[in-house]
Amino acid sequence: MASFRTGTAALLLGLCCLGTLASPLTLTARGIRHASAQDIEALAPFTQFARAAYCPKHKLHGWNCGEACAAIPDFKPTLVDGDGNLVQDYFVGFWPEKLAVVVTHQGTDPTKMFALMTDLNIVKGPLQSALFPGVPSNVRVHYGFQLEHAKTAKQIKEEVLKLMETHNVSEIYTVGHSLGGALALLDGLFLTLQIPYASIKTVIYGAPRVGNEAFARFIDQMVPDLTRVNNQRGKNTVIVDRELAYQWPLDPIPVLPPRWPLGFKHPEGELHLTGSGSAVYCDGEDNDLDVACQDRTVHEPIILTGNLFDHVKWFHQYGGF
Ligand SMILES: *[C@@H]1O[C@H](CO)[C@@H](O)[C@H](O)[C@H]1NC(C)=O
Repeated sequence: MASFRTGTAALLLGLCCLGTLASPLTLTARGIRHASAQDIEALAPFTQFARAAYCPKHKLHGWNCGEACAAIPDFKPTLVDGDGNLVQDYFVGFWPEKLAVVVTHQGTDPTKMFALMTDLNIVKGPLQSALFPGVPSNVRVHYGFQLEHAKTAKQIKEEVLKLMETHNVSEIYTVGHSLGGALALLDGLFLTLQIPYASIKTVIYGAPRVGNEAFARFIDQMVPDLTRVNNQRGKNTVIVDRELAYQWPLDPIPVLPPRWPLGFKHPEGELHLTGSGSAVYCDGEDNDLDVACQDRTVHEPIILTGNLFDHVKWFHQYGGF
């Protein structure tokens, strides 16, 4: 740990000077900061919600899905829906401890996800103005994610409004892993635009890129309370620790679809897990300067070095912290 910190500090020093030469803006906009133990602990219930979304619906109805549900015992799901296939499963409910309405989307199996991400027919398009009013005209979003999101948008909004009224609360959390993370991000924006008096927090895990740079900027502006958690650094990092690299393999999904040539970009808010109980916040959108962050961990041109199945494995093994 100490050597990791030292390495990071040395690296930051290096980046600082390079940054000064190249562009002073880069210097102020980018960097990493270690997450505190409290920050990581505060994420745990969100991780459990994201895990719970993988449980069969009949267990979610009674909030009886084992470890994940038991970790948030007071949560009350009020809408559990989807068919896990044409419509991704999701649930909505009330979390008394935080006086918040929670919307959580299930992910999908990794091979299906990979196909969706690397399909050469991937096309971006403008967001539907009926669901997303007032979005800048240059915003483009992956059609596949838009279609998935649109299938559940209306039901989710209705349920959220009902719960906000019943419990007299204005806090909404949107959560998900993988495809569920892409949907939770779109829900974060959708609910922000549809319910302007709500206060939205979005926590997504191992999520792919969802839209173009204009989309990322719009998210930064409209959904500022976003935490985009992704997997541990791996063997491609400069501050390599052979043992750790072996233990913490790579997750390629967050570097897909690629920035080049397709023009996808992540919004801000990356929290990169660097080991059990340690993580760094990565400044900026798609932070490709810091080797502790996802883009330098899993290089896009050689994404196949990322182990697809670790995308779900890390989640099940370490998801609960
Ligand atoms: C709802 O909450 C607001 C602010 O927390 C409070 O001022 C108001 O009295 C509450 N309304 C009801 C019906 O409890």
